[in-house]
Amino acid sequence: MNIKGKNFYSSLDFSHKEIHYLIDLAIKLKSGKTKKSLSGKTLAMLFFNPSIRTRMSFIVGMQKLGGLAVDLPIKDNYSFEYEKGTVMDKGTIEHVKDAARVLSRYCDAIAIRNSELITSSAQSVEVSNWETLKKDKIIKSFMEYAAIPVINMESNVFHPCQGLGDAMTIKEKLGSTQGKKYVLTWGYHPKALPMATPNSQILSACDLGMDVVVAHPPGFELDTAIVKKMAMRAKKSGGSLDFSYSMKDAFQKSSVVCAKSWGALKYYGNWAKEKEMRDMFKNWIVTEEKMKMTDEAIFMHCLPVRRNVKVTDEVLDSKYSVILDEAENRMWAQMALLSEIMGGGKI
Ligand code: CP
Repeated sequence: MNIKGKNFYSSLDFSHKEIHYLIDLAIKLKSGKTKKSLSGKTLAMLFFNPSIRTRMSFIVGMQKLGGLAVDLPIKDNYSFEYEKGTVMDKGTIEHVKDAARVLSRYCDAIAIRNSELITSSAQSVEVSNWETLKKDKIIKSFMEYAAIPVINMESNVFHPCQGLGDAMTIKEKLGSTQGKKYVLTWGYHPKALPMATPNSQILSACDLGMDVVVAHPPGFELDTAIVKKMAMRAKKSGGSLDFSYSMKDAFQKSSVVCAKSWGALKYYGNWAKEKEMRDMFKNWIVTEEKMKMTDEAIFMHCLPVRRNVKVTDEVLDSKYSVILDEAENRMWAQMALLSEIMGGGKI
């Protein structure tokens, strides 16, 4: 398997075989077979949004592999220019063209979190429209100019590291995944959240050859172009992809339930209307009663989670909840990825 030097913008950048190779490598690393394969290598991390899990799992993962992760403090005190040929006489400090090429001289990979939808404030972020956001201008600009691999730590469209960690967790817990039922259910949240995580989680379950069912209320449909790609991956791995407007129907006979919330694409930029619609679906909460309808499914959530809003305490703290393993596995999955794309050699 040679994926040295490749970007990881989405799991779609890698073949089905490459994804499975990374999952197996992550499981091997977790079993104690870790070498200092990235000794002398450096990862630059640019977080334009807050993070606990992604930030820590990359820093600790790089340390375990003998390398260094540098978390550049750019969020509130540094502004990049992205337009080509601009006269930079306004507020921006540095063109991405220069920043990406300079970081490429010091480092061996760049990891970026940039989502125009993530906020730590009580309100959703006001954005214009999905057609603009789905271009993922910031991370794509770094990819254009960097001479080293760029890793997506969550953009507007994808969160592939969450997807990879989830795939590892499912394989670790279920063993064989082929033909087993995976449910990704929308859950109520007071804010309109990004859909990068569900996009990547669904893609991962499709790569595992699972029978994937996405449950959400009417109006919360995913992007049709991305759904087509999910369906293609599902077909390639011998699985399937379906959608349901009923949480209870979807849960029947499932082996995995993963909860996530996201905003309605058609109301991007019109949160008042969005809120009016989403507030009709406060009953979209994962409860023990609903989990009893499954085939003793494990429960997954990427965290952070709104307890007793999207999922009850009973479910989150139950024996079948794997949320902590899921968070831990982000680190092992990313270590497998880093080691391979930064050319760490055989583990
Ligand atoms: N799941 C996840 O990406 O968590 P953070 O936002 O804390 O990184």
